[in-house]
Amino acid sequence: MQKPIILSGIQPTAKLTLGNYLGAVKNWVKLQNEYLCYYMAVDQHAITVKQDPVQLRQNTLFAVATYLASGVDPKTSHIFVQSHVPQHTQLAWILNCFGYMGELNRMTQFKDKSQSSGKNIRVGLFTYPLLMAADILLYDTDLVPVGDDQKQHVELTRDIAQRLCGLFGDDTVKEPKPYITGPGARVMDLLSPDRKMSKSAENEKGTIFLADTSKQVEKKFKQAVTDSGTEVSYSEDKLGVRNLIDIQSAITGRSPDEIVSSYEGKMYGHLKVETAAIVNEELAPIRAETERYLNDPGELENILKQGAEKAREHASKTIERIYRKVGFHI
Ligand code: TRP
Repeated sequence: MQKPIILSGIQPTAKLTLGNYLGAVKNWVKLQNEYLCYYMAVDQHAITVKQDPVQLRQNTLFAVATYLASGVDPKTSHIFVQSHVPQHTQLAWILNCFGYMGELNRMTQFKDKSQSSGKNIRVGLFTYPLLMAADILLYDTDLVPVGDDQKQHVELTRDIAQRLCGLFGDDTVKEPKPYITGPGARVMDLLSPDRKMSKSAENEKGTIFLADTSKQVEKKFKQAVTDSGTEVSYSEDKLGVRNLIDIQSAITGRSPDEIVSSYEGKMYGHLKVETAAIVNEELAPIRAETERYLNDPGELENILKQGAEKAREHASKTIERIYRKVGFHI
């Protein structure tokens, strides 16, 4: 029997962060045996906002090298770059003709991102959820592992899948489901713990980049915002402390309660120093392995070539089916 299909992607808009690693990549690795997995670097999504071309190319390779260094296995999972598979934009156009303005207008990520992009808002930023829907529908995806900020886009994909099936028959596309990863996987900014850790935060001191040195990681955790209290506890009104506990929990697998009780009688300083140590221990081998891949582009290019071939194999069948359904002459 064929394994259920999983698909996910990260935008290579900057070097990946601890948030991308704990929220996505670390979980991707765990899903590989049970599912057939497609993991992408979504460079076409990245250009919905301003990018430097040289950096975009570098960041794309960095993302892929990180997937591999973290344990995504190219023998069982398909690792590829979105722009290597032309079917993504082919299907995105069709979905542009079946998605509605009203639906896209409701997307909260568009509302947030368009506010910070000044007067000239790119059309692609508005229609971006349809490119994401194309990513998902191309592979007959069963489950899409995403953080809660992307759940709305997966719901939109489901609505569009239902619409296409209603118009052209149930075998047109497969309706996917979101696979929301646990709350511990949502890493918050170290300086503004009410916001998700982001590659593009205004102040980089709140973000742990996977390429940061151990020293930089220690320093950022030392400066992490906590609160005026002293006692380590896990609660809604101590977002900074809670974030550090969540980070430890996501890495070690210990529950927040266990972690809290290990800090009885200790101060926030201990929590910060030890969280930094746990993060460094986890990231050091990944950092080294990422470097190794980046220094050997031949191997990386090979893996990407194979990944794209596998992806195209599946995607071209889906596109052909949908082309027929919508009435294109093929
Ligand atoms: N939009 C997602 C994000 O910004 C990235 C993404 C693009 C994605 N295509 C996808 C995630 C398909 C899951 C499945 O995080």
